[in-house]
Amino acid sequence: MLFKTTEEHEALRAKVREFAETEVKPIAFMLDQNNEFPTEAIKKLGEMDLMGIPYPKEYGGAGLDALSYAIAVEELSRVDGGTGVILSAHVSLGSYPIMAFGTEEQKKKYLVPLAKGEKIGAFGLTEPNAGSDAGGTETTAVLEGDHYILNGEKIFITNAPKADTYVIFAVTTPDIGTKGISAFIVEKGWEGFTFGDHYDKLGIRSSSTAQLLFNDVKVPKENLLGKEGEGFKIAMATLDGGRIGIASQALGIAQGAYEHALEYAKERIQFGKPIAHQQVISFKLADMATKLRAARFLIYSAAELKEHHEPYGMESAMAKQYASDICLEVVNDALQIFGGTGYLKGMEVERAYRDAKICTIYEGTNEIQRVVIAAHIIGKIAKEGGSTKKKGPIAGIRKRMILKDGTVEERVKTLVESLKADGYDFTVGIDLDTPITKADRVVSAGRGIGKKENMELIKNLAIQAGAAIGSSRPVAEELKYVPLNRYVGMSGQKFNGNLYIACGISGAGQHLKGIKDATTIVAINSNANAPIFKNADYGIVGSLEEVLPILTAALDNGEPKKEAPPMKKMKKPFIKKSAPSYKTYVCNGCGYEYDKELGDPENEIQPGTSFEKLPDEWICPLCGEAKEEFIEV
Ligand code: CAA
Repeated sequence: MLFKTTEEHEALRAKVREFAETEVKPIAFMLDQNNEFPTEAIKKLGEMDLMGIPYPKEYGGAGLDALSYAIAVEELSRVDGGTGVILSAHVSLGSYPIMAFGTEEQKKKYLVPLAKGEKIGAFGLTEPNAGSDAGGTETTAVLEGDHYILNGEKIFITNAPKADTYVIFAVTTPDIGTKGISAFIVEKGWEGFTFGDHYDKLGIRSSSTAQLLFNDVKVPKENLLGKEGEGFKIAMATLDGGRIGIASQALGIAQGAYEHALEYAKERIQFGKPIAHQQVISFKLADMATKLRAARFLIYSAAELKEHHEPYGMESAMAKQYASDICLEVVNDALQIFGGTGYLKGMEVERAYRDAKICTIYEGTNEIQRVVIAAHIIGKIAKEGGSTKKKGPIAGIRKRMILKDGTVEERVKTLVESLKADGYDFTVGIDLDTPITKADRVVSAGRGIGKKENMELIKNLAIQAGAAIGSSRPVAEELKYVPLNRYVGMSGQKFNGNLYIACGISGAGQHLKGIKDATTIVAINSNANAPIFKNADYGIVGSLEEVLPILTAALDNGEPKKEAPPMKKMKKPFIKKSAPSYKTYVCNGCGYEYDKELGDPENEIQPGTSFEKLPDEWICPLCGEAKEEFIEV
């Protein structure tokens, strides 16, 4: 196969390279260090007609081909991987589904400003329980009159919160798997649509990435993209193209690192000659150049197939997988050639080394790319389990007594009585700064705490609850209300004690994983749909400023707290009043005990259903073991 880009392609490359060298390169280190989005540069890309490269001029685009788009992402990534992915996520993910599946009205309203670069686009598919298994989507959209009511959360969303327009995937028909998922166009600023954590990433730090939170967001019916139930296919088709963008990003990052290494190898003299002339380095450079060329051919060929409306899903997966795999090898070799110098902050190869890694992860991990490629060459492999089965809450099966009704005083009274009945003694206390991993009880603040002065409410409650103070990650890392060693979560401190009171914490997956071993979880949050409530034993829906002082007073016995005895792990609050008259069954995999009285409401098993009556396909809600793996105790 002889493959050659046209003069027009190379003219575009020269134009984007000049822009990247003059407008992005000088600020790339600063953007990386400050975790800062290149707002001005992205605006200029719009003015240069680059934000809608492959879309027709009638929709505000440049009317160029898919290969031109790949070249633009490659050239931006050559100097900054973060800027490259901003363009890629905007064009391939935020705009393409509207171009390919939108109505004429949707294209005019949303695609035109996106393609002109007046607005930025993003794509919301990934969720805490739906990463590689995208069909496990849990966000819901329920039709009520002229609107869909959207509830749920999306994580790791590239371009959020900078983007204006989001293509969001949500379940419209539950329990039928991927065919029950639909796609919607959602605008920033709509009531109930907020952003969670802004992630602090290893690389591509000039791109912004955040969590999306939907709380009863009213999405007009006309913003349904395609038909109901077509969402999963829209997502998959979009990702086929998106993978060309990520492959180009990986190629650009690797190309930039290679060029720096080549230049350095020619200048750096050791043993009396440039290291480029030492065979070991020259062979490295030869391998790097070969890998880059192979990746480039794969990418450009996938782009050509797409442009000519030929099947390209396998080819784009191959391009993404190969380009990102070799990107890691090339940046590693480039840094090796630089030696100690390349290990210093501010060196382009050091940034490329960090930027590269994400390319093997997002828009489908390279393991998923191999699943896609294998399915094309040997047919679809039969699934074990499957996406239609709901997963249990991240923090495990909980009692979920959520108090919404009555006055705040009544709700607090019920909570305190329940906690006391479970065995909590509120006459004892521990130091507020007891390490989280050693604390018996923790009162934690999330973003919902608002202004810093409100931390006084947390402190007062912690004293009366006999607890130490903790927080969610953003409260420690971004708001800096508490030291970093006080944040609880998978990436922070794990809480293994008894009582965890989460105040204003929405319940991001990484936080919930850090508290899953807590005996009792109490959630206080003004948002009744916050995921924390699904993961709590007790909850009060209400504002912190109102609930916390009343709860604090209810726990105050008017005396200083006595020193708490050494922590003893308590039983989870599923205490049976008397020994059951029926047999109990325990999961052989994780020890979860099926309780007939509770059933498994998450998976539509009504309370009172005996183990024997559970359907054969029922699986352990905690670890997914089959029913037959349960043992009678
Ligand atoms: N185009 C159109 N339809 C497709 C398709 C495609 N490429 N791939 C699958 N489908 C259809 C199938 O034909 C099937 O339809 P039928 O039921 O009518 O036959 C339906 O979709 C379901 O397909 P599967 O049974 O194959 O679906 P699955 O649940 O097994 O999932 C998967 C397949 C490939 C693993 C998919 O889940 C997947 O791609 N996962 C990775 C998700 C991903 O890439 N996420 C990236 C998030 S975005 C991101 O990362 C952006 C960023 O930050 C920059």
